[in-house]
Amino acid sequence: MTGRGRFVTFEGIDGAGKSSHIEWFADLLRKQGHRVSVTREPGGTELAEAIREWLLSRPMSMRTEALLAFAARQDHLERVIRPALDSGVWVICDRFTDSTIAYQGGGRGIALADIETLERWVHPDLQPDRTYLFDLDPSIAAERRRSARAADRFEAEQQAFFVRVREAYLARAASSGARFRTIDSEKSIEDIRKILEVDVLNY
Ligand SMILES: Nc1ncnc2c1ncn2[C@@H]1O[C@H](COP(=O)(O)OP(=O)(O)OP(=O)(O)O)[C@@H](O)[C@H]1O
Ligand SMILES: [Mg+2]
Repeated sequence: MTGRGRFVTFEGIDGAGKSSHIEWFADLLRKQGHRVSVTREPGGTELAEAIREWLLSRPMSMRTEALLAFAARQDHLERVIRPALDSGVWVICDRFTDSTIAYQGGGRGIALADIETLERWVHPDLQPDRTYLFDLDPSIAAERRRSARAADRFEAEQQAFFVRVREAYLARAASSGARFRTIDSEKSIEDIRKILEVDVLNY
C-alpha cells in the first residue's frame, strides 16, 4: 500500500490556463511513480456531467447554481474522488469548491457563510492537499478565451464579473493557509511548468 492519494485542484477564472497544464501535470506525477486520475468540476460522473450541461447553458438563480454545484460535487466525491484517494490514487481536479466560492460567492453575490455551510455539509473532512490558483488579469483572460471557443453562460459574463471572481479567489487563498499556490498566469507556459515541477517535490 502506498497510503492515501493526494488531492490537487486547479483553479482560476475562465481562460487563466488551468487546462493547459493539467494533463502535463498528471504525466509528471505518473513519471514519479504515482497512480493519477484527472477529473473536473462540475462533472466527473455521469450525473454530475449532466448537471454541468444545465449549469453552463440554462438560466437559473444564483442559489440554484450553488446548490447544483454542490449536488454535482456530492456525487463526484462519493463515486470518484473519495474512493480514488482511499485506494492511493492521486486525484487532480479542474475546479472544486474554491470555484463555487469565487463564482457564486464573489461573482454572483451569495454570502460566503452560506456557501461555507454547504461546504461543511458536503466535505467537512476533506480539503485539497494543494490548490494551484492561476491568477490572471480578466482582460487578458478574455483575450485568450476569444481565440479558444464559443462562450458558455459564465464566460459570456462581463469583465466586472470576472474582476469579482478573481478577488474572491485571492481572498480565499489568503484565508485558507498553506494549501494554496498562486501562479502568475502572465508567465509563459514553460515557466509555469518549472514552478509546478519544483513545487510538486514539496508534498
Ligand atoms: N501562460 C500562457 N501564456 C499564453 N497563453 C496561454 C497561457 N496559458 C494558457 N494560454 C492560452 O489561453 C487559452 C485558455 O487557456 P486554458 O484553456 O488552459 O484556460 P482554462 O483556465 O482552462 O479556462 P476555462 O476555465 O475556460 O476552461 C488557451 O488558448 C491557451 O493556449
Ligand atoms: Mg479549462
